[in-house]
Amino acid sequence: MRVHVADHPLITHKLTVLRDERTSSPVFRQLTEELVTLLAYEATRDVKVEPIEVKTPVTTTTGVKIAEPRPIVVPILRAGLGMLEGLVKLIPTAEVGFLGMVRDEETFEPTTYAERLPDDLSDRQCFAIDPMLATGGSLAAAIQFLFDRGAKNVTAICLLGTPEGVAAIEKMVGDADVTLVLGALDERLNEKGYIVPGLGDAGDRLYGTV
Ligand code: URA
Repeated sequence: MRVHVADHPLITHKLTVLRDERTSSPVFRQLTEELVTLLAYEATRDVKVEPIEVKTPVTTTTGVKIAEPRPIVVPILRAGLGMLEGLVKLIPTAEVGFLGMVRDEETFEPTTYAERLPDDLSDRQCFAIDPMLATGGSLAAAIQFLFDRGAKNVTAICLLGTPEGVAAIEKMVGDADVTLVLGALDERLNEKGYIVPGLGDAGDRLYGTV
């Protein structure tokens, strides 16, 4: 597994505003979208492309286009939806699948409550998006789900992660081809399963449920 933690002042600046408890839902949504776009730069570094010829006003040259079959972006519901727009703006040809994972607030165990994905992902590049890598339970289950559908590689993009969450994913995926792209690696999880310092419940803050 490869882990890439963004080290960029613009990303850290936007994350700081996101962490601020006074930041309103509309601003939170806007910043989430902007952050995904910035993180996607790293996350799509190995996106498959194929050569195409392009005629410029001066000459003909060879460029590239995103290869077929197109990549699939999988937001983990509900909070992952807040990251979708930022990524599909950048890869407008991507297919979008959905995976609904919910964690039990006491045991933190994830269960799948919704799924809309192709049956066969064996030739697809998969991009899973979930803002908070906390215990790692939901993301690990989501990645496993994608592998069970035949995916050969998964890139997960999260705004914040914890050392515990990264270790949980690492343990689950072993040698599998997984890349984790994080906006920041926070200190730890607290006893309620929240990321510290974190930003609170990302879904609640995105959708104004607090
Ligand atoms: N999920 C969240 O939304 N926030 C956390 O801090 C942990 C999990």
